[in-house]
Amino acid sequence: KKGEAWSARFSEPVSDLVKRYTASVDFDKRLARFDIQGSLAHADMLHAVGILNANDVEAIRNGMDTILAEIDAGTFVWSIDLEDVHLNIEKRLTEIAGDAGKRLHTGRSRNDQVATDIRLWLRAEIDGLLELLRQFRRALAELALTHADTILPGFTHLQVAQPVTFGHHLLAYVEMFARDAERLADARKRVNRLPLGAAALAGTSYPIDRERVAATLGFDGVCRNSLDAVSDRDFAIEFCAAGALVMTHISRLSEELVLWMSPRVGFIDLSDRFCTGSSIMPQKKNPDVPELARGKTGRVNGHLVALLTLMKGQPLAYNKDNQEDKEGLFDTADTVRDTLRIFVDMVSGIQVKADNMRAAALQGFSTATDLADYLVKKGIPFRDAHEAVALAVRACVDRGCDLADLTVEELREFHASVGDDVHDVLTLEGSVAARAHVGGTAPARVREEAQRVLQETAA
Ligand code: ARG
Repeated sequence: KKGEAWSARFSEPVSDLVKRYTASVDFDKRLARFDIQGSLAHADMLHAVGILNANDVEAIRNGMDTILAEIDAGTFVWSIDLEDVHLNIEKRLTEIAGDAGKRLHTGRSRNDQVATDIRLWLRAEIDGLLELLRQFRRALAELALTHADTILPGFTHLQVAQPVTFGHHLLAYVEMFARDAERLADARKRVNRLPLGAAALAGTSYPIDRERVAATLGFDGVCRNSLDAVSDRDFAIEFCAAGALVMTHISRLSEELVLWMSPRVGFIDLSDRFCTGSSIMPQKKNPDVPELARGKTGRVNGHLVALLTLMKGQPLAYNKDNQEDKEGLFDTADTVRDTLRIFVDMVSGIQVKADNMRAAALQGFSTATDLADYLVKKGIPFRDAHEAVALAVRACVDRGCDLADLTVEELREFHASVGDDVHDVLTLEGSVAARAHVGGTAPARVREEAQRVLQETAA
């Protein structure tokens, strides 16, 4: 088993099973370009402080160019005998660049190397997600602007509560995804610190220049403690938590899309390209995409719990447990990214069935609160008004009609203060327009908010 970076110490090779068990190259090879980026910054610094000569650095650069080209072309040969991405690349570099390749690992360990790779990779992923969240909020705001006047019933307990505008409903999701973006941007600050220089755990005896490496790699600063730098993965946990919240919000929206698309509700239709049919029932058009997104929320939540559990109770400093951080982390980024990409597209293609929404809002006494508020404005205490309207609703239930179907005289039976203008407040339009304060559902307010979001999310 010659060629393994640590083999000289060992008198027998590991079994094939142990080799497969401990190897990570099958999944960490996706860090390759970040590994190379980190190595080049390290080599440049070693040269700057006089540890590597110019020829060595040149040989390392050229070798890495070749390796990158091989990886891009798919001709790079990955070997599990070499355990992970780091040793695979270092071995190949040494084949190409000779002793210069062997000098690269001076003052460095795979422990600070892998922590650096993950941070570089994750930073790029976060930037990608922030861009997608921007596009997504924009798509939602555009639809909200179009439907600033479209009225549907708002629900609590999934029972008709009060009328709201569809634009307002969509802007609720814009708020959630704006907070998700804030969270990711905040987590990025803690991701963007350089672990290199920590070496295995205690730092290194070479006169390294960590600030230089940090600057080269675009990090905001260096990790201030070598033991912490190589061992904690809290930045990855934070990312997974932020990702889980993105998916949680996606799953809430998905649930609504599924519900709204049910023929029993009929509020929207989704473009065919986001739905699938049934192999047995010819009539079916199923909202598979939102259902899957709802389901994938489970796996992302799982990755968060797995990573928290991985970190729990680990003594300082690096432990091989941490190699298990990657698959869940990668899958979190992949799942959130793909989901957002699809949703950006899907939301812009939602067909709104405004008539059905309106018809639904006209049922279920959604303006009962407005009638009570109307009485309060005539000087009746709210609790008395509430009681009077409750009696009116009960009568309507018995008669099978809505509040607005009752005449002024009939309504007056429930309270003497009911005036000729009562039907103004029983309309859906009157109800939503009256809620024009900041955060309210009034069309005018929705238009303003949607415009603000469109400005905020302009490219
Ligand atoms: N593949 C390892 C990981 O992902 C790299 C660091 C290994 N270091 C070690 N001493 N075994 O964490």
